Amino acid sequence: MSSLSSRLEAIRAKMGDEQVDGFLVTSMTNWRYVSGFTGDAGCLLVTHDKAFLLTDSRYVEQAEKQCPGFSVKKTTHDEDVLKDVVRKEGVKRLAFEKRHTSYEEWEKLRDRLSDVELKGITGWVENLRMVKTPEEIELIARAQEIADDAFALLFQSIRKGAREEDLALELEFTMRKMGAESVSFPIIVVSGERSSLPHGTPTGKTLADGDFVTFDFGATYQGYHSDETRTFVIGHLDKKHEEVYGIVLEAQEAALRAVKPGVLARDVDLAGRKVIEDAGYGEYFGHGIGHGVGLEIHEGPSVSVKSETVLEPGMVITIEPGIYIPGFGGVRVEELVVVTDDGMRVLTQSPKELTVIKA
Ligand code: GLY
Ligand code: MN
Ligand code: MN
Repeated sequence: MSSLSSRLEAIRAKMGDEQVDGFLVTSMTNWRYVSGFTGDAGCLLVTHDKAFLLTDSRYVEQAEKQCPGFSVKKTTHDEDVLKDVVRKEGVKRLAFEKRHTSYEEWEKLRDRLSDVELKGITGWVENLRMVKTPEEIELIARAQEIADDAFALLFQSIRKGAREEDLALELEFTMRKMGAESVSFPIIVVSGERSSLPHGTPTGKTLADGDFVTFDFGATYQGYHSDETRTFVIGHLDKKHEEVYGIVLEAQEAALRAVKPGVLARDVDLAGRKVIEDAGYGEYFGHGIGHGVGLEIHEGPSVSVKSETVLEPGMVITIEPGIYIPGFGGVRVEELVVVTDDGMRVLTQSPKELTVIKA
């Protein structure tokens, strides 16, 4: 059975549990996962025995090629194709993705399908997406490899006087040249005091003696993302750099050791967070320690103090503790790992010991 047909099967099992006879998929990422369609306009309608892909004239030919198991219906301005299909297939109870339906869209749906009972559901496809197939893991590993290789090349440009923006641009260009479809998200390069901004954007600031410089970046490959962070010191290393970097690395190692099947994602966060708190820097680490990565840069499972998800083999998550001290700077080190039958495998290849780049 192909992974696409097993995805449809899993969705139909959910439809059975919830006693609905149709499921409307309105998230682009979710419809890609379920059907293979990479266009950015349309929706899927899944019934117990059929699957439809509704899209406009720009994408009909593409959809027919990409989604052989789906009946492609062309939408137009003057016809209500969804309503017609819903009627023809006898759908009386229709599940829809409430996280991916605006209030306005829901109002329109309610008016158009006035004789259909609408049932808002959450997470049917996202929960399937959390556990990756070996093929998906290969694509994520390839995206990560491109990012690591590009970063190794960029390394020679990281020196005192280099501009944050130029480094970001060069890294993006190099990843694209090496086969990335795009960046996973706008690249973060922050240096000096600006490195305390966990998601700061690169500026014209130049790297200076005594700066921390943090790079957070990733590539996409066939729709799948990678995610990695490295922090270096430029020129002069002082005791505080060493202390803060050492604590972040120790926190990361503690969290990595906790990653295995059967463990609550929350406990992975706590294992890393404890190291930072015990060292007296707890107030400088405000975000969760990680997140799932796949067709989206941030997806399930969340690896944070509140996450109730139990880790399973095939989940791909980041482990990315950080300490961010306003007025001083910050450090984050982020690895991408896959949960395996007996623990985890790190996909990130770049070295992560404290590196001082001679000014
Ligand atoms: N830059 C996004 C992240 O690391 O989560
Ligand atoms: Mn990142
Ligand atoms: Mn991340």
